[in-house]
Amino acid sequence: MLTLYTKDEEQTKKLGQTISNFLVDGDVVLIAGDLGAGKTIFVKGVAKGLGINENEVSSPSYTYINKYSGLININHVDLYLLNDYDDVYHTGIEEVLGKDLSLIEWGNKFEQLFSDEFWNIRIDYYKESRREIRIRAPKSKRENEKRIEYLWHK
Ligand SMILES: Nc1ncnc2c1ncn2[C@@H]1O[C@H](COP(=O)(O)OP(=O)(O)OP(=O)(O)O)[C@@H](O)[C@H]1O
Ligand SMILES: [Mg+2]
Repeated sequence: MLTLYTKDEEQTKKLGQTISNFLVDGDVVLIAGDLGAGKTIFVKGVAKGLGINENEVSSPSYTYINKYSGLININHVDLYLLNDYDDVYHTGIEEVLGKDLSLIEWGNKFEQLFSDEFWNIRIDYYKESRREIRIRAPKSKRENEKRIEYLWHK
């Protein structure tokens, strides 16, 4: 696992953009963190890295899934309002998982979505506007964590 710190919104976006270079079609990224931690900001950074206008990215809290087309198409999912996996199933999420790139806010709420082959990002409040961001790459691509760390500190 890789732990990094960002000091403001711009840096968290930049981190998303850096990580976007390591994401491929079919990848699933679970994004955990409290309300307002910066999950959607992180998604904006990933989108930007894939040639999508970040202003197109908005929180899918009520729509559950937003789609954006870019170098890789994105399924942006937010499961905050759901508590029961049956309801998650009815969002149609299982039809999109593994197609395009899925970025799932609050995906960590459902153990049905846990997989060693998914990316896991966790954003925690740190000091003032700082955030502690932990990154776990899919098991078969763990070496990407070192490469992300190198690019981040370069
Ligand atoms: N270091 C930082 N990284 C990210 N966002 C930050 C940072 N410092 C301050 N912020 C602010 O925190 C807020 C993060 O909002 P965002 O919508 O991304 O949170 P979220 O985790 O998606 O929340 P929700 O659970 O409601 O979806 C923004 O207002 C942003 O400006
Ligand atoms: Mg959000």
